[in-house]
Amino acid sequence: MRAKEPAAGNRSRLLHQVRYALRHPERVPAHARRAVRDAWLRLRHPDHIAYYRAVMASDAARSAEAAVGHNPSREQWARIGRMQFDYLVGHGLRPHHRMLEIGCGNLRAGRLFIGHLDTGHYYGIDISPHILLAAQDTLVAEKLQTKLPYLALAGDLTFAFLPDAHFDVVHAHSVFSHSPLHVIEECFANVGRILAPGGFFDFTFDRTEGEEHQVLHEDFYYRTRTLTDLAAKHGLDARFMDDWERLPHRQSKIRLTAAADRARTVGS
Ligand SMILES: C[S@@+](CC[C@H](N)C(=O)[O-])C[C@H]1O[C@@H](n2cnc3c(N)ncnc32)[C@H](O)[C@@H]1O
Repeated sequence: MRAKEPAAGNRSRLLHQVRYALRHPERVPAHARRAVRDAWLRLRHPDHIAYYRAVMASDAARSAEAAVGHNPSREQWARIGRMQFDYLVGHGLRPHHRMLEIGCGNLRAGRLFIGHLDTGHYYGIDISPHILLAAQDTLVAEKLQTKLPYLALAGDLTFAFLPDAHFDVVHAHSVFSHSPLHVIEECFANVGRILAPGGFFDFTFDRTEGEEHQVLHEDFYYRTRTLTDLAAKHGLDARFMDDWERLPHRQSKIRLTAAADRARTVGS
């Protein structure tokens, strides 16, 4: 299978939007409704986290599946969750590992991680109380209560309430595709502290090879280099995950490890 194509054009440009509307006229009314809603929410919530929390409240009120994915069908929801799970298990996620999922949503993948990991080893955080309530529904539906996962509301990505050197795997799927750079930088500045020695942080992002841009403050497109440079600034080594490119998912994936781990390996 060929590697996926990064976003070629700038989706925020008028020309791109006109061309897209001509190709998909049936999607115009929904996009227009979303644009009006988002403009109103941005007016009420100038801070990005508060704004995106309001977007999630609005989306989750219609359907939790739709709130975490573009295609709201239950099958698609399950398929994308399974893809994340199979990938990490293929990369060595074992039951004794401790995992943090940033932006866990309604546990599309989290339900599989929780089932796989030892009791109490899964920790999910999200900025949206609405989606965390939907996550509890998923726990009940999947009969996962005895695995005692932690689900916590977060107001930022400083992880101040989490312990040092604790998590073997930190995972964020489709979170930075909805995040401005200052939110990503806050995460990079703090994630090294909570990673256990030898641990890693995987995240997906919407990749562009052209101009970086955002659409409606909901979807953000970054160059790989921007994110790898930002990681280096915070003492993290970055690896672009080529094997993820072969999977049928439009985003790309980067893995971060603490540069201190590399120094230990080289020195030992
Ligand atoms: C597209 S959904 C993906 C959910 C989940 N990762 C999955 O794959 O099903 C994005 C999730 O990230 C959450 N989110 C967005 N920005 C966040 C942030 N800065 N910190 C924590 N969660 C965030 C949203 O509330 C939402 O639940």
